[in-house]
Amino acid sequence: PGAGGATTPLPKAELHLHIEGTLEPELVFACARRNGVQLPFADVEELRRRYVFDDLQSFLDLYYLAMGVLRTERDFTELADAYLARAREQGVRHAEIFFDPQAHVSRGVPLEVVLDGLEASLSTAPERFGISTRLIACFLRDRGPREAMETWEALEPHTARLHGVGLDSAEVGHPPDAFEPVFARARQAGLHLVAHAGEEGPPDYIWQALDVLGVERVDHGIRAIEDPALLARLARDRTPLTVCPLSNVRLRCVPSLAEHRLPELVDAGLLVTINSDDPAYFGGYVDDNFQALKRELGFGDDVLRELAANSFRASFVEEDERARLL
Ligand code: ADE
Ligand code: ZN
Repeated sequence: PGAGGATTPLPKAELHLHIEGTLEPELVFACARRNGVQLPFADVEELRRRYVFDDLQSFLDLYYLAMGVLRTERDFTELADAYLARAREQGVRHAEIFFDPQAHVSRGVPLEVVLDGLEASLSTAPERFGISTRLIACFLRDRGPREAMETWEALEPHTARLHGVGLDSAEVGHPPDAFEPVFARARQAGLHLVAHAGEEGPPDYIWQALDVLGVERVDHGIRAIEDPALLARLARDRTPLTVCPLSNVRLRCVPSLAEHRLPELVDAGLLVTINSDDPAYFGGYVDDNFQALKRELGFGDDVLRELAANSFRASFVEEDERARLL
C-alpha cells in the first residue's frame, strides 16, 4: 500500500528515476564493507543525517560521493533489485531508468560492469516484480560537451541495450545547446531523447532542450511556469514534463509542497507526470509523492488517477504494449 494507508497504489510508470539515487544508506555501507571503501561517515544514521540539502549542488556532492561504493556487477544488480522491490510496492508497472555512465567510468568502473550489473536485475524484472524497464544513459552536463561525446562513443556499441539518452547534473551555467552534436548522434542511432531542464535553470534552457536538442520529454521543467509562451508550446505539443515534487522541495527549488505550482502546470493543459528522482535522498518513492500531493495540495483521487494515466501516455512504451501495463 501507499504511504496514505490501506488503499492499493495506482498503477503507474516511473519516468524520472536515477538508479544511483535509489542507493539507501544500508546498501552504501554493505557495498563499502565488501569493497574495502573507506567512508567519511561512521554509520547509517550519520549518513542519513546528512540528507539535508540547500540546493541541487549540495545534493549532488553527496550523491556522487555515496555512489563511489558501487564497484562490481553485484553492487549494481543489488541496487536495481532493491529499487524494483520498492517500486512494486508503490504501484510501478514500468520504469524508464536513468544511469550516469560518466560517474562510474571516471572512477575506474568499466561501462560493461555497470550495464551487465543493471541488466542482470532488469532483464528478469517482469517475472520477478511485474515491472518492465528501459535504460536511459544521462550525460553529466557539468563535465561538458567534449566528455559527453567521448561517453557517447563508448556507449555506441551498446545502443541495443539503451532506450534513450538524457542530460543531468548541475544545471545552472550548463545550458543544453552545447550538447546538440551528441544528441544528434544519439538521435541518428534511433534513441529517444530527454533532458533535465528548468529544475534550477531558467525557462530558456527548456526552450533549448526542445528546439536545439529536440527532446521528447522535459525532466522537471517546473520553471516553465514563468513563461506563458513556453507553457502554450508544451501544452500544444503535449510534451510531457517529468515532475518530482518531493525532490523540488528537498532541493529548495520550491519553498514548500503547498506552494508548488504543479497545479498551474496541470491547469495549463500540460502532460504532467509524477516521479521520485532520487528517492533514497528525498524522503519518498513515487507513490509517496502521490500521497504528498493529496496531503499537501489537496489533490483528489480523480486528479491523481489522471496523473498516473499520464505516466503511461508519456512513456516510451509502444501503444500496442500499453494495455498490458494497466
Ligand atoms: N542527478 C540526479 N538527480 C538529479 C537532479 N534532480 N537534477 C540533476 N541531476 C541529477
Ligand atoms: Zn533527475
